[in-house]
Amino acid sequence: MIRLALKGVRRSFGPVEVLHGVDLELHEGEVHALIGENGAGKSTTMKILSGYLNPTVGEVLVDGKPVTFGASSEAEDAGIIMIHQEFNLASQLTVEQNIFLGREKRKGMFLDHKTMREETLALLKRLHCKARPDAKVRDISVPDRQMVEIAKALSRNARVLIMDEPTAVLTDRETEVLFEQVERLKAEGVAILYTSHKLGEVRRLADRITVLRDGTQVHSATRGMTEDQMATAMVGRDVSDLYPPKLPCGDQVVLEADVTVPGHVKAAKLTLRKGEVLGLAGLVGAGRTELMEGIAGLRDRTGTVRVNGTEIRANDPKAAMAAGLAYLTEDRKECGLLLNFPLRENLTLLALEKFSKGLIDRKAEDAALTQAIKEFDIRVPHRKVRAGNLSGGNQQKLLLAKTMLANPKIVVIDEPTRGIDIGTKQQIYQFIQKLAAEGLSVVVISSELPEVIGLCDRVIVMHAGHVAGEVSGTDVNEQTIVRLAMGLEEAA
Ligand SMILES: Nc1ncnc2c1ncn2[C@@H]1O[C@H](COP(=O)(O)OP(=O)(O)OP(=O)(O)O)[C@@H](O)[C@H]1O
Ligand SMILES: [Mg+2]
Repeated sequence: MIRLALKGVRRSFGPVEVLHGVDLELHEGEVHALIGENGAGKSTTMKILSGYLNPTVGEVLVDGKPVTFGASSEAEDAGIIMIHQEFNLASQLTVEQNIFLGREKRKGMFLDHKTMREETLALLKRLHCKARPDAKVRDISVPDRQMVEIAKALSRNARVLIMDEPTAVLTDRETEVLFEQVERLKAEGVAILYTSHKLGEVRRLADRITVLRDGTQVHSATRGMTEDQMATAMVGRDVSDLYPPKLPCGDQVVLEADVTVPGHVKAAKLTLRKGEVLGLAGLVGAGRTELMEGIAGLRDRTGTVRVNGTEIRANDPKAAMAAGLAYLTEDRKECGLLLNFPLRENLTLLALEKFSKGLIDRKAEDAALTQAIKEFDIRVPHRKVRAGNLSGGNQQKLLLAKTMLANPKIVVIDEPTRGIDIGTKQQIYQFIQKLAAEGLSVVVISSELPEVIGLCDRVIVMHAGHVAGEVSGTDVNEQTIVRLAMGLEEAA
């Protein structure tokens, strides 16, 4: 049974057409994967299916009948629920309020808090999520926010569930929990559309695969595509050599830290050398982000941080930046970009003094944008687009460009390739090695072990708020790192 379908769908934003005729069928009890490069049109396709956008041309069919959704709530009424790539949660509300937003349970005139609390707890438990129902969403971790999005969708009894990169921010373990739920929904007959840049997952989960390239469907298949075939279909070239060779670094220490971040990290020591790509591995919640935020002055910390021998004041991100330390956040929606502003303003934000001689030099800013678009291969529909209207992966590239414009000596990148397609990943890895070759030092925080192993010659592994160990050379392998990250073993 085909639950939901697109027929000949085109979509334009202003004069720019981004989807050029997409046909897609979602069958009951099946997982359909939609894959493609950053900006290929996956999120746009999903938004059309779930009533957030209308097609410019073409039809949306529910159970074979053409429909026009006036709003996403109409799609929801038809049982079509979407989980958004850039979360759709109200950050000032609690977990529970978000789950029931717009559908609050009532008992007569009053809100039925008891029932809502019970259902919230049950949903969170089903997802093994430890967030508290009364915690504000802005105070919970990024993966927990993803779980809340999923809980919200589960609470709505979907007939069609559309998930836009649900696992981008999840660890392997959380991903397993999600997949169990997906299998369960599938068995109940729910039709599922799903996108991910993690092609191994797609191979495992998908019953059907559609590949988009630049808004055009280039391939459709039932099961059986290998990861290499998917990558080649998406990118249009072979991407089997994902990681550039690692380069040796010198002995000169550029960053020395011995830091405690109250509530998160206890007495963590770290050194970084000139020209080094250092990995920071660990499970989500191990304190990696908090440690680096503490070092970069973005969070309370005690202890010492020295950049090139000079001590940096705590809680002073400007001082850290002046010393050459730049931190690229994992949370691009809340802290990274001004989504309502155009690309140019976003790009030059950290380096404004470079562009102002009394007044801001628009020409120079424009030239910088042209350069950034070229260097980072940012795919934009047009230059005046607001940052929030870039595809997720292209937002990440813009953040990278913005950080580099401040001319840092030390760059900390938190989850550098989250939501990034495989072709672009290769470009970002090359970019990181190039920075190191030019004598910059890079700290890569990543939950993706292959990435840490492929990029770094030395890896610090954290567990439960402390440094569990440090590995280098041939010890940079999955087994050793996982054991340390799980707290199974303390380094010699
Ligand atoms: N509201 C909008 N206004 C203008 N352009 C838009 C808007 N939304 C999307 N676009 C453009 O449409 C194109 C497709 O974007 P979309 O978000 O669908 O890509 P995607 O395949 O989901 O990419 P990613 O993997 O990076 O998430 C991009 O060029 C994007 O900039
Ligand atoms: Mg997207």
